[in-house]
Amino acid sequence: MPADLTTKSIIITGAATGIGRSTAIMAAECGAQAVTIFDVDDTAAQDTANVINTAIGDTVAKCWHVDVADRASVEGSVAAAVEWMGSVDVLLHFAGILHGAYAPIESFEEATWDRVIDINLKGTFLIAKAVVTHMNDQPNGGVIITTASGAGVTGGSSSYAYGASKGAVHGFTMVMQRHIDMAKIRVQDIAPGRVRTPLVLENLRQQFEKTGDREHYEAEVADLTDPDDVAKIATFMASDEAKVMRGPVFTR
Ligand SMILES: NC(=O)c1ccc[n+]([C@@H]2O[C@H](COP(=O)([O-])OP(=O)(O)OC[C@H]3O[C@@H](n4cnc5c(N)ncnc54)[C@H](O)[C@@H]3O)[C@@H](O)[C@H]2O)c1
Repeated sequence: MPADLTTKSIIITGAATGIGRSTAIMAAECGAQAVTIFDVDDTAAQDTANVINTAIGDTVAKCWHVDVADRASVEGSVAAAVEWMGSVDVLLHFAGILHGAYAPIESFEEATWDRVIDINLKGTFLIAKAVVTHMNDQPNGGVIITTASGAGVTGGSSSYAYGASKGAVHGFTMVMQRHIDMAKIRVQDIAPGRVRTPLVLENLRQQFEKTGDREHYEAEVADLTDPDDVAKIATFMASDEAKVMRGPVFTR
């Protein structure tokens, strides 16, 4: 196993599909004591929980319907999850959307801009705020991993709003590192490259629709990173073995 997560109570957002799903399953395989899944896709989130509980043979995973952009939903669900798990030692925050890809700025919809910023950026602020409040009261603090991207951090993006939101998530995480007592709560962002998930597959499909270049499309799909390879890094970052790690972590 990539990491030892025994005794860890974990909240993981966006674990219905993609990187979050792989990481939730791997966290349970790494011995996590409890895995709480927050997502808006109830059916797929429940499937992730079922995979975990069937493999472990116990109720290690539980789902909550949480829209991370909704403060009341986030605060209430974090409190309920902490009550169920007894603590929150790790937040792995993957929930995010990529909308507005390939739209020119002249016709970029304000509603699309607002939705992406609300979920990706405000959602990160809301969940971090709610979790820090609980971690501050715990003798052993905790670990918070947010998800940025190369988009808006080291390069551009197919979506103005997505690139802007991910650059801001990275900035927000750096500000948290500055202000939070890092001896107690370790805060880092992970910036995945292009990973084989529904988010990226849909983005490549939209690109193919525009260009019609099948050869390029197939080469791009074949080159995507396996989500399990990112999950290995995320579970390690969540573990005590990574306690002296600092700063953002980039993957291909
Ligand atoms: N796949 C990549 O190559 C890549 C690269 C860089 C960054 N990322 C980031 O990694 C994270 C995971 O992406 P993924 O590729 O696994 O995508 P994905 O679409 O497979 O997973 C995103 C998850 O977030 C959930 N979600 C969406 N809106 C939500 C909301 N309002 N509240 C709660 N949950 C919500 C979805 O239901 C889904 O389960 C995202 O933040 C994404 O921006 C992905």
